[in-house]
Order: sequence, then C-alpha cells, then structure tokens
Amino acid sequence: MNRKFLRVMKHYVITISVILLFEELIFHNICTGLIRSCSHMFNNFNENNINLSVGARKLLDNDHIMKYLRQNTHPKSLKTHRLPSCIIIGARKCGTRALLEFLDIHPQIVINLMEMHFFSNDTNYMKGLDWYRNQMPFSSENQITIEKTPRYFVSRAAPARIHHMNSTVKLIIILRHPTTRVISDFTQIYAQRLARNESMKPFEMTAIDVRSQHINVDYKAVQISVYHQHISRWLEYFPLSQIHIVDGDALIQNPISEIAKVESFLGLKHEISSDEFYFNTTRGFYCMRESVKKPERCLGVGKGRKHVNISDWAKRKLDNYFKPHNEILYKVIGRRFPWR
Ligand code: A3P
Repeated sequence: MNRKFLRVMKHYVITISVILLFEELIFHNICTGLIRSCSHMFNNFNENNINLSVGARKLLDNDHIMKYLRQNTHPKSLKTHRLPSCIIIGARKCGTRALLEFLDIHPQIVINLMEMHFFSNDTNYMKGLDWYRNQMPFSSENQITIEKTPRYFVSRAAPARIHHMNSTVKLIIILRHPTTRVISDFTQIYAQRLARNESMKPFEMTAIDVRSQHINVDYKAVQISVYHQHISRWLEYFPLSQIHIVDGDALIQNPISEIAKVESFLGLKHEISSDEFYFNTTRGFYCMRESVKKPERCLGVGKGRKHVNISDWAKRKLDNYFKPHNEILYKVIGRRFPWR
C-alpha cells in the first residue's frame, strides 16, 4: 500500500514538474513574442508602416505563436540582452531598413527595430553601455544582435565610441548612387513637410546655389553622399576587413545576392534563400514572404516613395560633382561601383 502510494506520488511530482517547466518556457516565450509584436507596432508608427501593423497582429495568431515556440522553447536558448556584435552604420536613404529587415529572416540574427542614436547623440551616450545593452532585443548565445542607426555614418563621435565598446565589432555600410541618394533624401523631407502643410524650396534651388550655379556643398544631403569623407573617418578606427559595404542599388534589384554576401561576412550559414522574397508589382520592390519569425510583409510606405521630378540639368550637375569623389571612394575601399 505504502509502496503504491509512493509510486503514485513520484508520478505526480514528475508530471507537475514537467508542466511547470513547460509553462515557464511558454510564458517566457509568449512574453518575448508579445514584446516583439509591440516593437513591430511601435516600428510601424515610427515609419508609417501599415503592412507591419497587419504583420504584428498576425504574429499574435496561434499559428505564429506555435511556430515561435517550437523554435525557442529549448532550455539552451536562454535569452538575455546583448550588445550588438554588428552595426549597420548607414548611409541614410541607401536601403538600411530593407537590409536590416531582410537579415532578420536569418535564425541566428536578432535585430533591434529602433534606431538607437546611442553613439551619435551625447545625451543618449551619457546613459551608458548598460542602458544601451538593455535596449537590445533578447538573444541567445549563438545569435548575432544587429543595431542600425544611419546617423552613425556621418557622426564625428561614433567611430571612437563604437571602437571603445568593441574594437572587433562588425560594421556594415550600404551605399547607392550618390545622386539618387540626394534625391531620395530630398523627397523624404519634402514628403514630411508636405504632410505638415509646410512649403519647401524646389530641389534645384536647394542642391544648387542659384547665383553661382555650383553645387550647394553646404546642403547636408549633398555632404552625406560624399561617401569617402565619412568612410575615411571610420578607417581611422577600424580596418577595412571589419567593414562590409552593401550595394544598395543591387539590393533593390536582387536582394538575395547582397544578403548572401552579408551572411558570409558575418560568418553565418546561408540560411536566407531567394524563396523568402517575391517581387511586389504594386510596390515595385521585393517584399518578404512569411517566415518562421514573421508574417509576410513589405517595407513601410516611407520606403520606395516616388521621387520628386528633378531636371536632367540638375542631375547631370550632381553626377559631375560626385564623379571625382566617387573615384576617391573606390581607391579608399579598393572596389568600384557602376555609378555613372
Ligand atoms: P527611396 O524611398 O528613395 O526609393 P533607408 O531605409 O536607408 O531610408 O532607405 C530607403 C530606400 O530603401 C528606399 O529609397 C528604397 O529605394 C530602398 N529599398 C531597398 N529595398 C527596398 C525594398 N525591398 N522595399 C522598399 N524600399 C527598398
């Protein structure tokens, strides 16, 4: 009688322990899932991303939670905040968001959705590395955390500060044709001002000095596209081998080829395949199919806007202005881009 009772009790205790362990894991992962969903929604508002909002809602569907749980309920996937071991430092309007979102498909990559402006903003930097670490998403030991803030590219303080955090951190820069980048930059500001009912000088009067008819070198958007000046500052702290440059124009045309190069740079297995993308004819860009981590989605409406009309004359003037700068860039990075 006593033995039978003990056997039943043993059974009982084991069953309860298993249930508790399972519940703990489920609870942890549901919380993580919810946090991720909320980040998505936040990101939505941040970037007017209507598709992501649908995506965030879908992530809460049972099916997605079950898939997420299957991937993450292994006890070894103990998650904590970790400093990024890779940072996408820019350049603005070159496809930084597309690159980050595409890389997020990889099971060994965890992305921080928000631009932190930690190394480029003194007030944020004063909050300290522990604060910064705590802003990072949960990751397990075998995952790479990636942060992206395009402002770092042009920041004077960021190279030294990032080097101070981790001198072996991997840096990714994405570049596109410098004239297209200026036009994209102008279009974004123009759209934002239009939404606030504010006026703006036409592109030609902004990028070109009306009196001298020379390029307005004080125009911030022009300065950002003089890529070699910024990269040279980063090279004072990091060897070229630690910096990977993505071709932003190629990323638009054929994402997988650029993504595969990044996987190699990060020392990761090629897990992202062309099946993950499809060309969305309405948007005119590649969008992402449903993956284990996330539902099907395109980037927000703030990405891939129709550019404002620019005269051929102004475009030619900008192309000619950037030509010698591009040549310097090619020498600095030991690689050419097919920019005309
Ligand atoms: P445009 O809006 O000028 O077309 P960033 O994320 O750094 O701000 O870059 C925005 C640019 O990413 C967009 O510039 C767009 O051309 C480019 N891009 C690259 N791949 C994209 C994609 N799959 N969907 C939308 N935009 C993409």
